[in-house]
Amino acid sequence: MGNPLRGRDAELAAVANALRKAGDSGRGALIYLCGEPGIGKTALAQAIATQAADDGFVVGFGKAEELHQIAAGAPLLVALRSGPAPLLDADTFAGLAPLHHQPLWLVDRIASVLADLAARAPVLIVIDDAQWADQVTRFALEMLPGRLAASPVVWIIASREVPPAPAHAGDVDRHLLVLGPLSDTDLDALATDFLGGPPVGSDAPPPARRRRQSVPRGPAAERSGGRRRRRASRAVRRCDRRSGAAAECGCR
Ligand SMILES: Nc1ncnc2c1ncn2[C@@H]1O[C@H](COP(=O)(O)OP(=O)(O)O)[C@@H](O)[C@H]1O
Ligand SMILES: [Mg+2]
Repeated sequence: MGNPLRGRDAELAAVANALRKAGDSGRGALIYLCGEPGIGKTALAQAIATQAADDGFVVGFGKAEELHQIAAGAPLLVALRSGPAPLLDADTFAGLAPLHHQPLWLVDRIASVLADLAARAPVLIVIDDAQWADQVTRFALEMLPGRLAASPVVWIIASREVPPAPAHAGDVDRHLLVLGPLSDTDLDALATDFLGGPPVGSDAPPPARRRRQSVPRGPAAERSGGRRRRRASRAVRRCDRRSGAAAECGCR
């Protein structure tokens, strides 16, 4: 099992609220998670997906790739047909194949399949790294949330970019969550998760220096499980550097 999610209480609460509302009202929602690389979009999206599955949502998770764009629409199609309990069975998925090069019809078919599915259980679809999504996926993400506004289908789109307001979102419930920095307490907890113990020397220097100095370097690092510690140190420094810029995103 991976490390636990640290912090993000406000974002988790906002998403839990949107999911609950969708489940109760039978209506859809569209949630954007935005922030720069390393800020924690994927970690948060995965935690949300796990929680939603525990709460009875049928969950699909897809991810756009920067370099390996295997097929038009792949991030969405993978979300529909991945994990131990895919949203679509093999036959239904195969039925989408002939529509591969006909985005209008593909999106129309996916909409009716998802509406059928959502009639039985609420659905969560997560698309990660949407900044790299191909044209077909972008078109589908533009059209589907509005089209399915009257069904309990929740979309989570994680992206480095702040998305423009979709022209076809209709009256779907929209949320924009801009990930800012973790608190020092959460960063220390995260460092502890990676290091396998509390940071050392926490009394003297200020937090930023303390976090850097907590990781042994050179021969000392090698002697004491240095590789894992150096990874943690880099992750924490990335969080420190990047959190400021995400806070400036100003797109809430
Ligand atoms: N809130 C958090 N709690 C625990 N680990 C986190 C948290 N945010 C980020 N991380 C860790 O930091 C690293 C970068 O986070 P990631 O979610 O991949 O960022 P992003 O998707 O925004 O590029 C990953 O190893 C991730 O597990
Ligand atoms: Mg990511």
